[in-house]
Amino acid sequence: MKTLKIAIQKSGRLNEKSVELLKNCGLNFENYKSSLISPVSNFPLEILFLRDDDIPEYVQDGIADLGIVGENVIQETEVEVAYLQKLGFGKCSLKIAITNNSDIEDIKQLEGRSIATTYPVILDKFLKDNSISADIRTISGSVEISPGLGLSDAICDLVSTGGTLKSNGLKPFADVMSSEAVLIGRKGSENELLIQELIQRVQSVLRAKE
Ligand code: PRP
Ligand code: ZN
Ligand code: MG
Repeated sequence: MKTLKIAIQKSGRLNEKSVELLKNCGLNFENYKSSLISPVSNFPLEILFLRDDDIPEYVQDGIADLGIVGENVIQETEVEVAYLQKLGFGKCSLKIAITNNSDIEDIKQLEGRSIATTYPVILDKFLKDNSISADIRTISGSVEISPGLGLSDAICDLVSTGGTLKSNGLKPFADVMSSEAVLIGRKGSENELLIQELIQRVQSVLRAKE
């Protein structure tokens, strides 16, 4: 029989809840921190532990059949995947933030300023929609320290509790998009029997939580 693969985040905000959801679906597997692939003993499924940023492409390209990832990552990677189910966890929003002592009061004042982000695609669309031309500085992480280092006037990053902004002397300024974890697959593949079985298990776990 065919073995499915589901990709989940290796470490980070979505890891624990993703593992919990799969366990609640009745799937038995070891959650080794060091192994990046874990077989499920009571369902023809393997779990791949990946960087969240890579998950949409793995699913689009058919390397994984399913994935659990934030909507923000899907939008940023601009892939063609099917949204199978919103999962109700990992809620956060992508925001522009400025320093507590910034002179910026209106989003139009971002004109000509520099904004550091790991979400250049989404930020670029947001700025175009608002007819703002700003300098997007793409970096790969620790975005929140960039204004303090004089590298940018603002940042665009995910905010969940707001703790990271606060501890870096930043305040939220504009909402770009809200996001939560979603189950994704390839278009058309949701009709396969095994995938359908997994989607149904996920949906009944979610219903039991309501
Ligand atoms: C996000 C974001 C912030 C942090 C904000 O990272 O990049 O650093 O969470 O959370 P807080 O508002 O609760 O302080 P994420 O966990 O998505 O990891 P990644 O960017 O490395 O994928
Ligand atoms: Zn990431
Ligand atoms: Mg981050």
